[in-house]
Amino acid sequence: MGVSIPLLVIRLLQTFVVVSASIDSKYIKTSVLEESSYCKDRGIYGLILQEIKCSLIDCSRFCSKIDNCRRFMFDNKDNHCSLYESSENCFTSEDLSKKMCFRLISVCDDVNCTRCPIGYYGDQCQNIIEDCSDGTQKGVVPDKKMMSFIRPSPDGPVLELQCDFRWGGLTVIQSRTKSCLEVDFNRTWHDYSVGFGYRHGNYWIGLENVHRILQNHPKFKLGVLLVHDSPMGPAQGYYHGFNISNNADNYKITIDSYSPNSKYDSGDSLTNGSYNINGRPFSTYDKDSSNNDCPGRFGGGWWYIDDPVCSRANVNGKRDSVGDTFEATWHWLDNLGNITNYRDISLLLNRE
Ligand SMILES: *[C@@H]1O[C@H](CO)[C@@H](O)[C@H](O)[C@H]1NC(C)=O
Ligand SMILES: *[C@@H]1O[C@H](CO)[C@@H](O)[C@H](O)[C@H]1NC(C)=O
Ligand SMILES: *[C@@H]1O[C@H](CO)[C@@H](O)[C@H](O)[C@H]1NC(C)=O
Ligand SMILES: *[C@@H]1O[C@H](CO)[C@@H](O)[C@H](O)[C@H]1NC(C)=O
Ligand SMILES: *[C@@H]1O[C@H](CO)[C@@H](O)[C@H](O)[C@H]1NC(C)=O
Repeated sequence: MGVSIPLLVIRLLQTFVVVSASIDSKYIKTSVLEESSYCKDRGIYGLILQEIKCSLIDCSRFCSKIDNCRRFMFDNKDNHCSLYESSENCFTSEDLSKKMCFRLISVCDDVNCTRCPIGYYGDQCQNIIEDCSDGTQKGVVPDKKMMSFIRPSPDGPVLELQCDFRWGGLTVIQSRTKSCLEVDFNRTWHDYSVGFGYRHGNYWIGLENVHRILQNHPKFKLGVLLVHDSPMGPAQGYYHGFNISNNADNYKITIDSYSPNSKYDSGDSLTNGSYNINGRPFSTYDKDSSNNDCPGRFGGGWWYIDDPVCSRANVNGKRDSVGDTFEATWHWLDNLGNITNYRDISLLLNRE
């Protein structure tokens, strides 16, 4: 036959999707995706160990033995094994064909499971949190920011996204960051409805998913977090009573009131004065209710008003402003004024 046992094991591992590292732990083979080197090892993954040299089977055993390991990437050319705390897929700036990615399904003893993917819980990892606040309130997640799985509605999809499980649990529904590859935010109604982007970097979770999350609790607040390039520090604010209607009603937005952050206030660019977006339908360039080509001019979907001003905020605009107009570049006019030098921008949902 000429095939050694370890090689045979590796062949088998490559063939079958689910592998058993030892009797009591299971992994599923996931994808390796291309990503630039400045993004692939972001803190949000929780890198535990990088590039130890071992076999594939030992790499999976390492992961099973280390309490908080839930994913590993293996390089089948130089036998490098890297362990991570969370997430579905692996990213590399090297040759994709060299890398394999596995993520944990469960680690169980004779009776119950002792380790589940982040967001899953229960004796057999059979339950999943509805949103990030749900995880914090139930006490089934670590007290930090990380990638997690959620399922907003029982008949809807399982989503992977960024959760900050501190502060009562924040569900990151939109994330922009200069730490990762840019994603085009000037997209269609369909894209804004179902979501797009890379969940560890720049993404929009999708209005359909936001709508599902909002069904699970009587009241949510919408948070805005703006992080500057300059030493100004982060700025934030909250909108109480945030709600959206369904697709047929163009995802109309409802906001009750703005509540500034006492220390680092972002200012109110959504409901301040005559440019209040409360009650407005969502618009994209291919389904525009603004009557002023606002999605095209601002370069992204939003709840634009029916006025040439469009909006006092543009969080879905172009991140790298080179060659773009001010209105097409991400900005937040009130309080912070006419600046575009942000490092990160995100929108967060928090149960009230
Ligand atoms: C398994 O889970 C059940 C139900 O939560 C619990 O009653 C039982 O003590 C657990 N068994 C072990 C060995 O942890
Ligand atoms: C949010 O909007 C939906 C309509 O899409 C509505 O059914 C629901 O009652 C609203 N929630 C609140 C708290 O107003
Ligand atoms: C509302 O707008 C006014 C006028 O532009 C501005 O002076 C004020 O700071 C804004 N308020 C908030 C909370 O952003
Ligand atoms: C956004 O895309 C639309 C449709 O392709 C285009 O007309 C518009 O100029 C784009 N806006 C920006 C700011 O790039
Ligand atoms: C912001 O600043 C740019 C250049 O500094 C200017 O062209 C633009 O008109 C300003 N926009 C607003 C809304 O103040």
